[in-house]
Amino acid sequence: MPGVALVGSGSARLPGTLTNDDLSRVVDTTDEWISTRTGIRARHLAAPEESLASLAAQAGRAALEMAQIAPEAVDMILLATSTPDDLFGSAGQVQAELGASRAVAFDLTAACSGFVFALVTAAQYIRTGAFQTVLVIGADVLSRWTDWSDRTTCVLFGDGAGAVVLKASEQDNLLGFQLCSDGSMNGVLRLPYQAQSAPLTEGIAVQQGTFTPITMNGREVYKFAVSRVPEVIEKALFRANLTTADIDWLILHQANQRILDAVAQRLKVPSERVVSNMAQHGNTSAASVPLALDEAVRAGYIKPGDTIATAGFGAGLTWGSAIVKWG
Ligand code: ACO
Repeated sequence: MPGVALVGSGSARLPGTLTNDDLSRVVDTTDEWISTRTGIRARHLAAPEESLASLAAQAGRAALEMAQIAPEAVDMILLATSTPDDLFGSAGQVQAELGASRAVAFDLTAACSGFVFALVTAAQYIRTGAFQTVLVIGADVLSRWTDWSDRTTCVLFGDGAGAVVLKASEQDNLLGFQLCSDGSMNGVLRLPYQAQSAPLTEGIAVQQGTFTPITMNGREVYKFAVSRVPEVIEKALFRANLTTADIDWLILHQANQRILDAVAQRLKVPSERVVSNMAQHGNTSAASVPLALDEAVRAGYIKPGDTIATAGFGAGLTWGSAIVKWG
């Protein structure tokens, strides 16, 4: 069975920055409250002319360049996003923008777990021999769906895109994984469609409406994350025949520094092994894990052969972990 190698990473550059002080002029909040409760100091916002697809393509292009792979050599593009430009999917636009003419491209939605779910999904196509080269992108523009008058949510999110290139290889560097869902807790974090009945003809109506901004029960999400994330990482490590002592880098979904600290403490991973970029980016949903990974690779922290425990968690509810070796 072919194995999976991780051969490149990339992310999009978003010039627009919104600091906590900027936010304190939008809602009743302070830099002190946001930074002590979450660790976030600033986040980037997509420019009005940027599309989700253009950010995703930027991240994908950078990852392909690092991997020295031409877009025409890509067999599949998997775009993890909850905020497509088009409900029919945005991966096709990314494929066109990259010129990845041979690639089949489609979206995968699992909120902040999206990248980890997509990484594991992509690896299955490689392991079965169906595809050799897959571009996995996590990208979200939650600023489009944030209620900017709700201080309990609007301070948390930022926009971003990150990507990884997977290639068939003799050695398998996806060492273990575990993916989970619990729809019974769906109500604690939502970006729901709200329909209104519109009469069409006698006795027949259609439901037409729009998506409404993010609602979240922060405390419930917090409790869920600190209990389930260590557990899912331990299960993925068990499948990889590894222990927490084998982790070189812990890359969690960047939701809240307190969640990262609590999870690392439970797993006994020292803080210098925990990758955190949320001070500059906030919670970028599906983009957060590949963005943190790409920054750590480009800064020279993560080196070929390092063992990385990744975990995503969020709406659905969904959560999952993939243990990978870089390279
Ligand atoms: N500025 C100032 N005060 C605020 C703000 C703010 N931005 N937001 C809330 N407060 C107030 C509240 O009104 C409350 O006041 P009260 O005591 O007078 O009622 C007080 O601060 C405490 O509020 P809590 O909600 O208890 O604050 P908490 O310490 O739980 O922190 C937070 C809230 C940061 C949202 C935290 O619960 C959290 O991080 N939860 C996890 C969220 C998450 O991880 N989401 C990830 C998934 S995202 C995805 O999948 C798309």
